[in-house]
Amino acid sequence: MKKIQRDQLYDQAKAWVLEAGKNIREKMTGTFEIASKSNPNDLVTEIDKNTEEFFVQRIKETFPNHGIIGEEGYGDKLTSLDGIVWIIDPIDGTMNFVHQKRNFAISVGIYKDGVGEIGIIYDVMANNLYHAKRSEGAYKNARKLAPLKMNPIFSEAIIGMNHFWLCENRHVDEKVMQQFVRTIRGARTYGSAALEFAFLAEGIIDGYISMKLSPWDIAAGKVIAEEVGGLVTTIDGEELTMLDKSTVLACNRQLHHDIASFIKKGRK
Ligand code: IPD
Ligand code: CA
Ligand code: CA
Ligand code: CA
Repeated sequence: MKKIQRDQLYDQAKAWVLEAGKNIREKMTGTFEIASKSNPNDLVTEIDKNTEEFFVQRIKETFPNHGIIGEEGYGDKLTSLDGIVWIIDPIDGTMNFVHQKRNFAISVGIYKDGVGEIGIIYDVMANNLYHAKRSEGAYKNARKLAPLKMNPIFSEAIIGMNHFWLCENRHVDEKVMQQFVRTIRGARTYGSAALEFAFLAEGIIDGYISMKLSPWDIAAGKVIAEEVGGLVTTIDGEELTMLDKSTVLACNRQLHHDIASFIKKGRK
């Protein structure tokens, strides 16, 4: 992608994200429909849907040849990442949105031929915009984020993870995960994968793990975390795909081996 084209796309995407965030803040003071999807705790609201529609409409008007993958299904049914593809989570952390009215984010990743070029994560209520272009560094608002500290010790690490992985599950032995949280310094569950990537990039947690995330949970965060020297792979250390669900291990490079080999003991 030419620099000028990418810079224009970056400015446009950031402007739409801020506009969408403002719309969410306005609409959330009124009443809105809340439904559940795969199970009673898997929530979706009218505002999730409207926000995705907002992006899809703008993108299709302005960049008719760009592809779109979005959680709520307004995008395209893509089977390849050829060309420019926007990967959008209109509200990441819908449960927080519904119950807490905070701690949720808009996540937009822009990929060219499968390579992450732009990542934008907007913490809507805190009004913090995390953003990055590949090879040009990551920012929180106007502040450039420092490279991740390279001396974390496994036993002193704070790791973002869902407590779900401490219960019996199909992906990893819960006993190993319980041992994992006893070995590290602390575990944190924020309820928004995008924000956990942003906090990793900011250096306030040292890693983030999940056994099941979708491309829209990961796309922006991967670009941002990599710009501060983070390593983002599957839990088994393999490259991530943006076409399917996968496990995720995002962390400081120094910790990658320690975390991956610990969890490997319990992989099913
Ligand atoms: C969810 C959040 C949550 C993660 C789930 C995601 P959603 O996204 O990121 O932190 O644990 O796996 O599905 O549904 O609120 O966009
Ligand atoms: Ca969802
Ligand atoms: Ca999500
Ligand atoms: Ca979502």
